[in-house]
Amino acid sequence: MCGIFGYIGKSEAVPFIVEGLKKLEYRGYDSAGVATYEHGRIFVSKCEGKIAELEELLTDKPIGGEMGIGHTRWATHGSPSDVNSHPHTSCDGKIALVHNGIIENYLELRRKLSEEGHKFKSTTDTEVIVHLVEKYYKGDLEKAMRQALQEVTGSYAIAAICEQEPGKIVCARKGSPLIVGLSDNEAFISSDIPAIIKYTSKVIYLEDEEVATIQRKKIQISTLDGKPVKRKPTLISWDPESAEKGGYAHFMLKEIHEQPGAIRKTIAHRVNVDSAKVHFDELNLEPKEIRHFNRIIFTACGTSWHAALVGEYLMERYAKIPVEVEYAAEFRYREPIVDDKTLLIAVSQSGETADTLGAVWEAKARGAKVISICNVVGSSLARESHGVIYTDAGPEIGVASTKAFTTQLAVIYLLTVLFGQVRKTLPQAKAIQMINNLMEIPDKMERVLAKEADVEKLSEKFYNSTNALYLGRGKGFPVALEGALKLKEVSYIHAEGYPAAEMKHGPIALIDKNMPVVVLAMHGRRYDKILGNIEEVKARGGIVIAIASEGDQMVKEKADEIIYIPASTEAVSPMLAVVPLQLFAYYIAVKRGCHVDQPRNLAKSVTVE
Ligand code: M6R
Repeated sequence: MCGIFGYIGKSEAVPFIVEGLKKLEYRGYDSAGVATYEHGRIFVSKCEGKIAELEELLTDKPIGGEMGIGHTRWATHGSPSDVNSHPHTSCDGKIALVHNGIIENYLELRRKLSEEGHKFKSTTDTEVIVHLVEKYYKGDLEKAMRQALQEVTGSYAIAAICEQEPGKIVCARKGSPLIVGLSDNEAFISSDIPAIIKYTSKVIYLEDEEVATIQRKKIQISTLDGKPVKRKPTLISWDPESAEKGGYAHFMLKEIHEQPGAIRKTIAHRVNVDSAKVHFDELNLEPKEIRHFNRIIFTACGTSWHAALVGEYLMERYAKIPVEVEYAAEFRYREPIVDDKTLLIAVSQSGETADTLGAVWEAKARGAKVISICNVVGSSLARESHGVIYTDAGPEIGVASTKAFTTQLAVIYLLTVLFGQVRKTLPQAKAIQMINNLMEIPDKMERVLAKEADVEKLSEKFYNSTNALYLGRGKGFPVALEGALKLKEVSYIHAEGYPAAEMKHGPIALIDKNMPVVVLAMHGRRYDKILGNIEEVKARGGIVIAIASEGDQMVKEKADEIIYIPASTEAVSPMLAVVPLQLFAYYIAVKRGCHVDQPRNLAKSVTVE
């Protein structure tokens, strides 16, 4: 779960690489480094810390060259330190290599290589690869890379350069993403699109177990066992501006504000409002298959798991099909009972989350049909699934997921309408009404965003809290979980999301006059019950912050603080209710001086188990 960026062209490589690494910093930010080739030699500069520290180092001791590779790290094996930073080099310093992933058999390889005389400098798993490449190097870096990779188990995206072969970067991937960007006179490699979109929209996705040799005007791809691969470049439609902060203080804030637009874009081309017809281009599910399934399993991690949980409530209610929602890592190792009547729906912003990919492999191996809901076009998850629905959220850079969540909700909602229609559990009039309700969401969301200043003010009262509880019922429960996750990940305040009714079975013991309790108290079928839960909190001295439907007086009388959101049906309300919770977490984090876009210990896409 690191970031890799490489450049080969006619300009100085370091500025491109540093700029690229800054864009990738969300993937990991505990150390960084760069290696370049110039005048027959390889130069390496690396250090513990963020890219800013690497930049300082490079200002003090510049390194030149028109090709190079860079890395920003999220430590797995070996603590963050100068010596554990990438690039790692061979014993003779003639090969430099960066890696994203985990080499599972590194201890055994390290022992063997040490016995053969290789001297290790770091405690990383990565360093074994560069020594293996050195061992096999006989004047052909690509060949040596191929031989080395035959011996490693685990996951990798790799880029390497070699003193004896100027003008070439050799890359490979298995289980971790790597993209090659092509321009007229230069080429780039990157872990993701936002880092290269500024330079080119013409990209080639490397597939698992492929090796590529990149030259300024040429790319040559082959499989790990040497078979040539022909692949046409893909044109990326993302706007380069979408990968910039655009005047906002943080990506998280920008992405919160982008939600109305992102939802409009996600739904616009998929629905016919008058006929309530829903269409997904790459779903690859026949109506008879939709009728054939007797069960849906959603699988995901983190925020995407919360979106999936909303899916359970929607699908069971409107498509009348049993649904389970599984944490991907638990599902894959549990010997799950799955067959061809099971539809697995994997939800992921990045499409690269290792646990989610593992769950997909497991389900496929057991005969399930797999579709994914994913934001990154061409991601591993999209490619591993039988069908895919892309959320059109655009690049999400802030580590805390925001617009990916609400667009996932929109897609799951539309999928529910489609399933309900095909399975004949959703009358046409109801389907039309549901589509109309969804169409109103972007405008209503804008009205919620207009309350930003109120939420900011509220955050002033609570930014010194040490704990918080988030309660919800029905579709408000996943929103409570999501609100709590947002707060803990960006502000480091301990927060728990709970089904409001479960509070009395334990967490109620936590409530005292210092405990802020955020309650999702919008109108809906469980409204009276939630009012009762508010009373229970108040009776124990807790501070209630309610999210309520516009015009509600009952909640206002009971709660200490209230944020109104426009009235909506329960089915679409999560998309609105989560917005003030995102803003609340954001402003609390800012007031606490936290690094909002890159919270400690986290990384945007978790490509390790
Ligand atoms: O890319 P994915 O949606 O698969 O990522 C899953 C989680 O890692 C992610 O949602 C994580 O929980 C975010 N930091 C939440 O804000």
